[in-house]
Amino acid sequence: MQYERLVQWAQELWASRWPERPYVTIWASAECSNMIAQSQVKSGRKLRGKARYDGVDELECPYIVPISDYGSRGKKMVLTSSAGAFAFKFTHEDEDEQFEVVYASSYFSDDVQDLTAIALVPEDKLETWAAFEFACARAVRPRIRRRRDVYIIGGTDAFFDPTVDWGDVILSDELKSKLLDDMEAFFTKGVEIYRQLKLPPFRKLLLAGVPGTGKTMLCAAMAKIAISHGRVVVYVSGADRDGASFEKIQRALQAVTAARYPVLLIVEELDAYLQGDDKARVLNVLDGIESPNNPKGALLLATTNYPEAIDERISKRPGRLDRIFIVPTIEDDEQATAMLRHYMGDQWKDEHVGVIEYLIDQPGAFVREVALHARMLAAHEHRTEVTHEMLEQSVQSLLRQIRAESDFLANRRPISLVNSKKGNNNRNPFGF
Ligand SMILES: Nc1ncnc2c1ncn2[C@@H]1O[C@H](COP(=O)(O)OP(=O)(O)O)[C@@H](O)[C@H]1O
Ligand SMILES: [Mg+2]
Repeated sequence: MQYERLVQWAQELWASRWPERPYVTIWASAECSNMIAQSQVKSGRKLRGKARYDGVDELECPYIVPISDYGSRGKKMVLTSSAGAFAFKFTHEDEDEQFEVVYASSYFSDDVQDLTAIALVPEDKLETWAAFEFACARAVRPRIRRRRDVYIIGGTDAFFDPTVDWGDVILSDELKSKLLDDMEAFFTKGVEIYRQLKLPPFRKLLLAGVPGTGKTMLCAAMAKIAISHGRVVVYVSGADRDGASFEKIQRALQAVTAARYPVLLIVEELDAYLQGDDKARVLNVLDGIESPNNPKGALLLATTNYPEAIDERISKRPGRLDRIFIVPTIEDDEQATAMLRHYMGDQWKDEHVGVIEYLIDQPGAFVREVALHARMLAAHEHRTEVTHEMLEQSVQSLLRQIRAESDFLANRRPISLVNSKKGNNNRNPFGF
């Protein structure tokens, strides 16, 4: 059999090189002769047993004809698993003692495609050799379980991109820092406190406000920060095509529980789940009966455009939602100016402050559209700047459009559960 001839050859070589040195003969890992491992495991690498890897020499062995498989790695073609004979060289770091492992890998028979390898290893160096084999195996195997930072629960059209910078969200500093402090305090200190109290470390925040005030944007910015601290983000939206079903929440909770990291769980349009039979189950989650148990901590950041749909059973009962943050429309001149400046970019001119009065009480999305529209029209007309008049026109046309839209909807829309009440008074829909 092939392996017996290989062992015999290796033993003769050993006897001629290190006649005094005792060795063991072992089945070795075929990955040490893989060319990917040989190029990636570099000489100089430290190994267990206070040893250093010093590189590899190819050996002549009359029973092996060197041959390699090949394949693509990324865009490059590379040689992969190989038959061959090698001497792997090591140094014991303290004593400066050098030693080698004689190694041969080959095919048992023409029918078997798997390489088999044998090695002669100094009797007292098995620990180092095992560490070397492990390093080779790691280099060869593609990393299958890459950590994912963001899990998006939903259909193929579900989309969430946590690349928003915190500074680009224009809201009062007070609101922003309260929200951020809550998250940081929970993950850095809170989880341990919940644990001491034998509570599952699960904290629940709600962002409420009319559409377009920046709730989704705020979620994306919070997610970016969470990821930068090594937390995992699980995102689920009730607004995508496959709608809001408790099944989606359940999948999200499974992802939260399975993650071996702290998790920021984002549930958008929470109100959409609070209808029909699903409502009781969502309440169970909020109450802790079905809440996820992730020992590293899970923070729920939920959003709603229709806080009225989240009735008092949730909003007023302590413990179901720990904090409700109202995300308001533009509150004052200062915020309006900041928002407009942001979206006018380098087209900003001081005369633009003339439209500020129209922006108070509007959501950020309104300002963005006003600015984009004006800038596009200016570009279309080959103008290099946006005048105050153009900006004012853009404001007025958007206001007209919104008015026409709401008249149209008021005349047509059947009374629906969540939209029927006056949804525009977002100042303080919860009455506190
Ligand atoms: N506070 C804000 N700061 C900066 N941009 C905003 C803000 N609010 C809204 N926008 C702009 O309007 C868009 C829509 O806002 P979004 O976050 O989707 O609102 P919501 O989720 O509250 O309905 C954002 O992508 C952003 O371009
Ligand atoms: Mg949104």
